[in-house]
Amino acid sequence: MFETLQSQPADKILALMQMYRDDPREDKIDLGVGVYKDPTGLTPVMRAVKAAEHRIWEAQDTKVYTGLVGDPAFSDAMIGLVLDGAVPRDTVAAAATPGGTGAVRQAFEMVRMARPGARVFVSDPTWPNHLSILKYLGIEVVNYRYFDGDTGGVDFDGMAEDIGKAEAGDVVLLHGCCHNPTGANLNPSEWDAVIKILQKTGATPMIDIAYQGFGDGLAEDAAATRKIAAAVPECLIAASCSKNFGIYRERTGLLMAIAADPSARKLNQDTLAFLNRQNYSFPPDHGARVVTTILNDDDLRADWKAELEEVRNTMLAIRTQLAEELQALSGSDRFGFLGQHRGMFSRLGTTPEKVEELRTKHGIYMVGDSRMNIAGLNRQTVPILAKAIIDVGI
Ligand code: LMR
Repeated sequence: MFETLQSQPADKILALMQMYRDDPREDKIDLGVGVYKDPTGLTPVMRAVKAAEHRIWEAQDTKVYTGLVGDPAFSDAMIGLVLDGAVPRDTVAAAATPGGTGAVRQAFEMVRMARPGARVFVSDPTWPNHLSILKYLGIEVVNYRYFDGDTGGVDFDGMAEDIGKAEAGDVVLLHGCCHNPTGANLNPSEWDAVIKILQKTGATPMIDIAYQGFGDGLAEDAAATRKIAAAVPECLIAASCSKNFGIYRERTGLLMAIAADPSARKLNQDTLAFLNRQNYSFPPDHGARVVTTILNDDDLRADWKAELEEVRNTMLAIRTQLAEELQALSGSDRFGFLGQHRGMFSRLGTTPEKVEELRTKHGIYMVGDSRMNIAGLNRQTVPILAKAIIDVGI
């Protein structure tokens, strides 16, 4: 029967990861998949994660199933981290999911169950897997303008005009911080304008927040999410712990569905439990338990925050260095936007041909749309990248 299957397009990011592994050049540079690397090229287990795992190993005396939506303590801890009391707790339904991607998938499924004809408005560009999952689920996608190729910033007028066309029953997908793949983000007054548009159109926001703590700080990066959640009647939030806790392979995420009032919460909560049961039954527990242990212990939490700050500042320093190197080499300010971007990624803003040339000629791997993982660089490799960018004529 399986001869009827059609081969599916490879995920661009994961295909690049394989190409990099297969490249025998010793001086190759990986700016592909969104994984943090320290200046020595390692993706370390964070100190607080190791300590929490140790405690869990010592104390855990059963591996029996948790609840269908995971351990309620994990939901409480993550709701605290992301929302910090922005909305009443009794309006928030939540389910643990396998990573942020699991939360995104369950959110789209919930939308489709509630409104089979709903359209999802997505930024142009967005994380490719958003589009892939939406297509797989048969949900109509509407692109809204986002990235301004001339300035390397956000085309906010275009965005506002396009999301203004959404209607009640549609969903507007927003990146809570650290936009993936561009690194270009809205400023606070632009977020306020987005809120006004959502209120006017009645469209439901869905916020994907996968990089809290990687941009301007834990609270700063969640500020827009909190403001939106407090300002609209209903909101979906997909949060990932993969990056900010560095527990990529543990698959740890949380989907939050915020209702207009507490009486509507139960239906949302039951729906999230149903969706978990249909798709994978119980969500993974280990990463969620690690996160809960860290967030609920003052010392571990403080140490995690300190290490996350180191990670954030390392990426910021790389951004600044790269922008400065490019300014010196090009004799122009045209790469200044790299210093303004936030998070793990920046879109360089060049053609797939130039990206290919960087790979073949210089062994530098970035996604074809010229998304670079800034954390793949260090003080020594920044000048190499800067020279290569100028060399290929970007
Ligand atoms: C990325 O965008 O590189 C990460 O979110 C990893 C992934 O799953 O694509």
